Amino acid sequence: MTNKKILITGASRGLGLAISQKLSSQYHLILHASSPDSFTSIPPNSQILCADLSNPEQVTGFCKQLKKEHGDSLYGIINNAGVTFDNSLIFQPEKAIDAMLNVNLRAPIMICKTAMKIFSLSKQGVIINISSIVGETGNAFQAVYAATKAGLVALSKSLAQEAASLNEEHKIRVLSISPGFIETDMTNTIPEKEKEKYLKMIPSKRFGSAEEIADLVSFLLSEQSAYINGTNIHINGGLA
Ligand SMILES: NC(=O)c1ccc[n+]([C@@H]2O[C@H](COP(=O)([O-])OP(=O)(O)OC[C@H]3O[C@@H](n4cnc5c(N)ncnc54)[C@H](OP(=O)(O)O)[C@@H]3O)[C@@H](O)[C@H]2O)c1
Repeated sequence: MTNKKILITGASRGLGLAISQKLSSQYHLILHASSPDSFTSIPPNSQILCADLSNPEQVTGFCKQLKKEHGDSLYGIINNAGVTFDNSLIFQPEKAIDAMLNVNLRAPIMICKTAMKIFSLSKQGVIINISSIVGETGNAFQAVYAATKAGLVALSKSLAQEAASLNEEHKIRVLSISPGFIETDMTNTIPEKEKEKYLKMIPSKRFGSAEEIADLVSFLLSEQSAYINGTNIHINGGLA
């Protein structure tokens, strides 16, 4: 167990929950969700810090608290919380567009801003932004969601380059992960027929598990991946 602290947003369910379970034996965790009530269990060595990421004021408060309470030993950020409201853009309500932009892109940008300030002083840290395959391929009825996920890839690559200008000698890395089809609450709502269609398109002939994403996150936080930086890692069973 190190004294390094890792923030995981959206840690109450799905990928975030699996990531927190995987990391809890190695790091001190700061677990985020929209409300403390969202958690059914909390792994050991964890603290909870909640905010509704669709609300910019709450995001500002969250970032301030993160810096004040955890800034001294913050080492990792996993920007994982995300929402999708699938619809044709023509019919997409403005409220849903704003929610996706705020939760999936604005909040990670603000959290990255806070982390970059902290990491520029400690000269070390890893940011992992959870993007999606659709950020590269696009997807009908997910135009806004896909746009936010593409934004996370560009954000990560840009910040990896920016880190070099903050400090000549530093160990700051910024990465994104683009999962394909992973079984969680987010994908459970997809109709069975759609799922069958996707299965046929995946060379590995199965959907991914949240634990497989957690394994990748754990590796990317570790020293073994010290030379992996400023890039987007696909994990999708070969889905193109
Ligand atoms: N599942 C997939 O196949 C897949 C594929 C590609 C990318 N991804 C990405 O992976 C990430 C995790 O996905 P998932 O499938 O694990 O999703 P999920 O099961 O739906 O869980 C979403 C998490 O985000 C949090 N969240 C949602 N809206 C929030 C808000 N307004 N404020 C604060 N927290 C909020 C939720 O907290 P509450 O419990 O409090 O609501 C929950 O912890 C997302 O960014 C998603 O886009 C998933």
